[in-house]
Amino acid sequence: MSGLDGAKRAAAWRAAARIESGAVLGLGSGSTALYFVEALAERCRSGLSVVGVPTSVATKELAISLGLPLTDLESRPRLDLDVDGADEIDPALNAIKGGGGAFLHEKIVALASDRLVLIADETKLVPRLGTTRGIPVEVVAFGWRGAADAIASLGAAWQIRGGDRPYVTESGNFIIDVMPPTGDLFAFVDAVKQLTGVVEHGVFRHLAAEALIGYADGSVRTLSP
Ligand code: A5P
Repeated sequence: MSGLDGAKRAAAWRAAARIESGAVLGLGSGSTALYFVEALAERCRSGLSVVGVPTSVATKELAISLGLPLTDLESRPRLDLDVDGADEIDPALNAIKGGGGAFLHEKIVALASDRLVLIADETKLVPRLGTTRGIPVEVVAFGWRGAADAIASLGAAWQIRGGDRPYVTESGNFIIDVMPPTGDLFAFVDAVKQLTGVVEHGVFRHLAAEALIGYADGSVRTLSP
């Protein structure tokens, strides 16, 4: 296992170690979240009793293969805790998510949860969001170019994920990766959210209560906003 994978795994296993029986959990997406699902399943084999709401097909399939009990937001509209990865985390624990394309479902589950805990390796910590990689913006496939042009008119650069064969999300939408203009990122994404055709963006502002950051030596640091 590489140092990076070890760091992700350390954060995920630390998060799983804290889960108490009876919890209704959001199960995030991405490689770190999948380590969490594995760790949770391991604890369930030793008697822990939980139920999870997966945020993607990949997470759902892994959970099912490991025998983890699942439910959905129709049956359980409120969740105790959501555990998910991130692409960037700033010092206030604002985050960018969506490198794996599941951020719409991830944000819905995060908002349905009493508490969001981010799990990530140390490379995800940044002083400021959105300066090195784009912000994913999920748009309706029909007429997506109009939404992209409207985003460009806000001063941003963009590219459609997947290029000539656009990536299709689990909700049937496309993703535009946006490099924001310099300035107030939160004001920019608020403006993006207002555009016709835009479904959601990957900035998670003031949502995380805590972040567990894993390091290559296996240690884990707990951060609060
Ligand atoms: C999935 O859409 C993403 O939000 C992931 O949570 C994020 O990209 C982190 O992924 P890794 O844990 O694989 O780095």
